[in-house]
Amino acid sequence: MSNVDFEQYEEFDYSPYNDSDGAPCLSDKFLRSRDKRINILHGSVRSSKSIASLLKFLGAMMSISDEQHNVILGAYSHKTLRNNLIDPLFSIVKRFRLDELVDFDYERETHIKWNRNKIVLIGFNNDSALGRVQGLTAKYMLIDELGLIPEEPFNMAYTRLSERDACFWATMNPTNPNHWIYRKWIHNTNLDSLMNVWNYQLWDNPHLPSEYVDSLLATYPKGSVEYKRYILGEPVAEEGLIYDNFNSDEHLFQYNNNDDMVFDEYYISTDYGPGSVSCALLTGLKREHDGNIFYVLDEYYYDIKEHNGHGLSDEELSDKIAELAATIDKKITKFYLPHDATSLYNNIKSSLKYIFYKRLKIYKPDTLADISVIKDLFYKNKILINTECENLIRGLESYRWDPKATMRGESRPLKVDDHLVDSLRAPIIDNYRGRKNYEALTWGG
Ligand SMILES: Nc1ncnc2c1ncn2[C@@H]1O[C@H](COP(=O)(O)OP(=O)(O)O)[C@@H](O)[C@H]1O
Ligand SMILES: [Mg+2]
Repeated sequence: MSNVDFEQYEEFDYSPYNDSDGAPCLSDKFLRSRDKRINILHGSVRSSKSIASLLKFLGAMMSISDEQHNVILGAYSHKTLRNNLIDPLFSIVKRFRLDELVDFDYERETHIKWNRNKIVLIGFNNDSALGRVQGLTAKYMLIDELGLIPEEPFNMAYTRLSERDACFWATMNPTNPNHWIYRKWIHNTNLDSLMNVWNYQLWDNPHLPSEYVDSLLATYPKGSVEYKRYILGEPVAEEGLIYDNFNSDEHLFQYNNNDDMVFDEYYISTDYGPGSVSCALLTGLKREHDGNIFYVLDEYYYDIKEHNGHGLSDEELSDKIAELAATIDKKITKFYLPHDATSLYNNIKSSLKYIFYKRLKIYKPDTLADISVIKDLFYKNKILINTECENLIRGLESYRWDPKATMRGESRPLKVDDHLVDSLRAPIIDNYRGRKNYEALTWGG
């Protein structure tokens, strides 16, 4: 008996990869293809890369008939490994009634037993990944979201594929064309004889609901980075403005505190540079059936340069934040502080306990994922900013990608005038979902 609790997995609702006329789609061709040593599926989100590569992996595992082998199953983190590979793998296993083959140690999550073989599980963001991979000899490897994985442990894992007919499959969403994966692998003609590359577009998945495809087409204008990445599956560099879809026609509103504009929740968020800028935002949230709308109501902005180099103490900033909260006669639902603002946190905890009792929340940024959610919400007109918030508006209109990082294949914002733009993230990222059927795409997933 397998120790995997298959009760908790939904049986995968498998359908073949044919279009409505019965013609084979890209995943069908991939599944029928002869594997080379290197097999990379890159392109559009939700285009069936991960499921198809899992099916291929399953076929390879079923074909092992001789002595026991190691294989590697890898993803960015243990969490994504579980969500993107292990859980879908178990629901596919359930669908094909292969339960008896697998055993999984849920507590340690180090490996899955597959007959007499061992599937070694690697979360590549973990410091121990390199060491764990180093000692292995492996026959197969499947990696999800290769674009997020650091180069060194990946190279090490690749060298472990030393058995006869060893090969790997990897999937990834489009990223910057200077990324090492494109430069050193996908576009490396020396690897041609060893490598199959499959470039997916959104239409390559025949199982996506047409409303979903239509909603993406309606949201992202042709020519935008998002259109090229999400729909055409092309690698595109981040260049120029980050929020290039933010504009004064659609994303600003006039707010008068005497108005009868009432919100379902109110947030304060802050960012803080003792030697530069200290700032805070007051944001209101309205619940809507198709996703929450955020209204940035007011800002507090203090630039040390405009005050002869005099910075604010924690006490002074706490007082200013209390004044901002007092401009509305409502309870603040949550107050978000950056993860590295320990002394401010302690100060607010003691001096402003009466306002923020049990409502302080530390926010740890995930820069690229946060940016793609916020940009997505600008596309959907779910973020509106009071015309009076001039510093925030200036920040949004000038927030740029760092061109030097882009050249190196990395994606990073320039750290210029970004304090209010950063403060905007926490209340939104923590509360944007609203309804289950509302989904923001992120380039990571
Ligand atoms: N063979 C299949 N049968 C049924 N649904 C599928 C199949 N392959 C993919 N899908 C559906 O398409 C969705 C997206 O596929 P996925 O492989 O996760 O895309 P990607 O990895 O390209 O983002 C899956 O969650 C699943 O609902
Ligand atoms: Mg995927």
